[in-house]
Amino acid sequence: MSEKPTSDVLNRRRFLGAAGLGAAGLAGAGSMLPSLAAKASEAAKPDPAITEIKDWNRYLGDGVDKRPYGVPSKFEKDVIRRDVSWLTASPESSVNFTPLHALDGIITPSGLCFERHHGGVAEIDPAQHRLMIHGLVDTPLVFTMDDIKRMPRVNKIYFLECAANSGMEWRGAQLNGCQFTHGMIHNVMYTGVTLKTLLEQAGVKSNAKWLLLEGADSAGMDRSLPLEKALDDVMIAYAMNGEALRPENGYPLRAVIPGWQGNLWVKWLRRIEVGDMPWQTREETSKYTDLMPDGRARKHTFVMDAKSVITSPSPQMPLKFKGRNVLTGIAWSGRGTVKRVDVSMDGGRNWCEARIDGPVLNKSIVRFYVDFDWNGEELMLQSRAIDETGYVQPTKAELRKIRGVNSVYHNNGIQTWLVHPDGVTENVEIA
Ligand code: MTE
Repeated sequence: MSEKPTSDVLNRRRFLGAAGLGAAGLAGAGSMLPSLAAKASEAAKPDPAITEIKDWNRYLGDGVDKRPYGVPSKFEKDVIRRDVSWLTASPESSVNFTPLHALDGIITPSGLCFERHHGGVAEIDPAQHRLMIHGLVDTPLVFTMDDIKRMPRVNKIYFLECAANSGMEWRGAQLNGCQFTHGMIHNVMYTGVTLKTLLEQAGVKSNAKWLLLEGADSAGMDRSLPLEKALDDVMIAYAMNGEALRPENGYPLRAVIPGWQGNLWVKWLRRIEVGDMPWQTREETSKYTDLMPDGRARKHTFVMDAKSVITSPSPQMPLKFKGRNVLTGIAWSGRGTVKRVDVSMDGGRNWCEARIDGPVLNKSIVRFYVDFDWNGEELMLQSRAIDETGYVQPTKAELRKIRGVNSVYHNNGIQTWLVHPDGVTENVEIA
């Protein structure tokens, strides 16, 4: 969808402010209890969902032989990854998006993690797969998958965000759903070995400064990675969420580069070359650079800055009820942990602190909530993340002041959802 008229939106801001909505309108959890009780007593009228015996209550269900690998209920059939047909020329060099609006907690189910690849999904026989380390090392090495699985293991939960996430929104509100505006992110638990463990076996020479990571897919995608980061927290993972990586996410082996742009997380990893300078590959020169207003481009912009989005209500999750509602969303920072998330209901005039629930981990998504009462007034919902370094997620206007509008990558500006009185919610921007 296209941009909303700004003066109209600003008038609404004034109206909402005058009505005293916003931070002051956010009710405490206790205040809704009476109306919930009223609902319960209405339920005294005969309700077929209670009084009728259903088939699932009457007949035997499937036996344990029917689902050797479990899938979601058929009633959840709309909770799927989706692509945007006009976005890319071919499905092999494309992206689909995580259905953020329908998820909760902090872990992305493996089958719903967005996919981004440049040459389709490589179907690799793990018995035939090798990882080679060479270049400025004492002993060049080739590892089989079995070799890697016999080394000390680590488990870590990290977000992966594509640098192009929200890239279509640089020049104004475009896509009507957080699945599409923010869905190039997932957050899973990885199992694997640290890259440090592998490099120590090869013995890195003293003049080494950079690594080249290369994939075994048809794109042979490769990126340069500073040695300092490699020795800090980079993992070489073979499992996600407790089972083998999914083919689309790099089976049997991928790089995990915590807090840094997704493009560096080379999938189907087959080769690591150690060198003393970056390789200047396509992915770090013509792509994944940020064109600035003066015509020059920023290069090696690795870190994903703090960002957040309200996932419900959102365009795919309109408000259905007056009275008690749960607002929820996710926040993350490539620089460490998220310290606080603020939510505004009036387009940024008033803010309240959201309640973060669930684990707060380094370079992982956190889940936040605001339990609130809605009387049917228009809302302009926003969230902003503040990370442990004190960095505050900027507004889109603040971001554009520095970055202009030529960029695709690293758009972490504050998102606005406009909730209409009928609950319909849309992507807008406040000028
Ligand atoms: N690795 C290889 N070998 N080939 C690719 O096309 N795409 C990169 C990165 N690793 C890619 C790759 C990009 S641009 C991103 S954002 C992430 O993988 C996406 O990871 P995902 O598919 O697990 O979400």
